[in-house]
Amino acid sequence: MSRKALIAANWKMYKTPAEAKAFVDAFLPLVAGHTRDEIALFPSPVLLPTVIEAAKDSNVAVGAQNIHFAEEGAYTGETSVGQLQAVGGTHTLIGHSERRQYFAETDEIVNKKLHTALKHGVVPIVCVGEVLAEREAGQTAHVLKTQIAGAFVGITAAAAGPIVIAYEPVWAIGTGKTATPEIAVDAHKIIRAEVAKLLGADVAAAIRILYGGSVKPDNATSLLGEEEIDGALVGGASLKPDSFAAIVKY
Ligand code: PGA
Repeated sequence: MSRKALIAANWKMYKTPAEAKAFVDAFLPLVAGHTRDEIALFPSPVLLPTVIEAAKDSNVAVGAQNIHFAEEGAYTGETSVGQLQAVGGTHTLIGHSERRQYFAETDEIVNKKLHTALKHGVVPIVCVGEVLAEREAGQTAHVLKTQIAGAFVGITAAAAGPIVIAYEPVWAIGTGKTATPEIAVDAHKIIRAEVAKLLGADVAAAIRILYGGSVKPDNATSLLGEEEIDGALVGGASLKPDSFAAIVKY
């Protein structure tokens, strides 16, 4: 089964427009002609026009870190999928653990956002992952299955094609503690089996599952070398062009 890997940069709440433009200008030459993997940048909403303009006609896609599930409305501080598309954004993260942890995003909200993204043809990256206490209590499989089942309510096999999943163990995010390839592969297998249960073997075999959590240039090869791992969602190490390019070219 060959699934094209996706290497994604989650910039979180970092960079000014000038810094974002400087990143793209330095980064594009480093990955020029790279077609083995898809590459996507996820900046803050205020940076989207700058980054999209700077990456125009390149092999680098640009998306949002979050969208609202409503098409429009009185939702102060939020960004709609239509607004994202109007500035040229093509992808969105959904349910990142920081959204779940600090902004009370539930599986139900993740599910609504997933429906909205798919309806509008934006590529959704649905993030799932267990916290340390859940792993230590032996609940990882249960948590992953619950998050996937919750995210996928009402999603049909016919509609699921564009969906990407990111497995991000919360204890590995920003901590420097990367999951070993074995831990990541085990989790990916649990997730893929749940997708198979919900949407069938064909969807499960085709769906891309990224790993995220302290991915760095020096551990990218061992993680991304695994057949089960279809790319990476990179936070801290995606903020510098040379470091993110080194991960892309693992
Ligand atoms: P990290 O973040 O690479 O800094 O651990 C990953 C993420 O939160 O997506």
